[in-house]
Amino acid sequence: MIDRIVSTGIDEGPDPVVTEQEQELENTLRPKDFANYIGQDRLKQNLQLAIEAAKKRGEPLDHVLLYGPPGLGKTTMASVIAHEMGAQIRITSGPAIERAGDLASLLTNLQDGDILFIDEIHRLHRTVEEVLYSAMEDFKLDIMIGKGPSARSLRLDLPKFTIIGATTRTGALSAPLRDRFGMIHRLEFYNHDQIGQIIERAADILGVKIHQEAAGELAKRSRLTPRIANRLLKRVRDYADVNGDGIIDSVISRQALALLDIDDLGLDPADRIMLMAIIDNYKGGPVGVETIAALTAEERTTIEDFIEPYLMQIGLIERTPRGRKVTPKAYSHLKRTPVAEA
Ligand code: ADE
Repeated sequence: MIDRIVSTGIDEGPDPVVTEQEQELENTLRPKDFANYIGQDRLKQNLQLAIEAAKKRGEPLDHVLLYGPPGLGKTTMASVIAHEMGAQIRITSGPAIERAGDLASLLTNLQDGDILFIDEIHRLHRTVEEVLYSAMEDFKLDIMIGKGPSARSLRLDLPKFTIIGATTRTGALSAPLRDRFGMIHRLEFYNHDQIGQIIERAADILGVKIHQEAAGELAKRSRLTPRIANRLLKRVRDYADVNGDGIIDSVISRQALALLDIDDLGLDPADRIMLMAIIDNYKGGPVGVETIAALTAEERTTIEDFIEPYLMQIGLIERTPRGRKVTPKAYSHLKRTPVAEA
């Protein structure tokens, strides 16, 4: 069967700074199968096993929940799963399904074996979520017809489908919804080598010449995140086209990254503002996330979903029961001296 991505025309990523152009680029660069998907080896092994078993039994794949910071490839992995299952995928997102009726129409239009990808599944409305329970568990749709004393409930059979849910935080998911997923997997940050390979693969697809050293330089500054790696590659390509002969060498890449104000750990101005705010106002913390949000004029969710996970991953901040704390590594990176305790 040919696999196909049927988009519902809804925003396909939780990242508020993903432009339409970037989305298109991401689609071009997206690996189609496990063989071309770099990294997330344990997740791939688990999924490959589940897919092979489901195919052997002639059953649909169990529901899958993918979680982790944005840009690590949750949507990509969903389309790879569909391809490997030989299934059709429909893509939607939690906030886009406004009423139970919207979900009913999505589900009744599926066919046996289809995959429904729900991005930002933690943002599903409660009334919609409740319809999903029996749909996921028994492939039945419970709907109410009419209102008041004449209302009656109807139970419809649904095709045997698979839900792939994606979320930046499992904690925000209600327990009954989380419990209905047979597989729950976290996407991990990539390592520098893997990001380097992703950059070289993307450069190859885009027909951009990049020196290995420059790819390594970009990899180091990509926050261990493929979406950011591809975004930087594109910006550096612009710089190379305008200020050079289009070839990305280490000089060009360093100049372009300096212009973008991205330092050698991949920190951008928003990261540095947050770290400096904690250092200057709270002697390095601990300080609560709401206070940090007020200090930096960032949304709490932007801090929790975008800024903080990478800073924690590379050990620049840590979470304590009393809030976030800047580490000695952050002080040394920012060339600041910790204030001695009184
Ligand atoms: N492009 C974006 N993410 C990728 C990945 N994990 N493997 C290969 N190419 C990618």
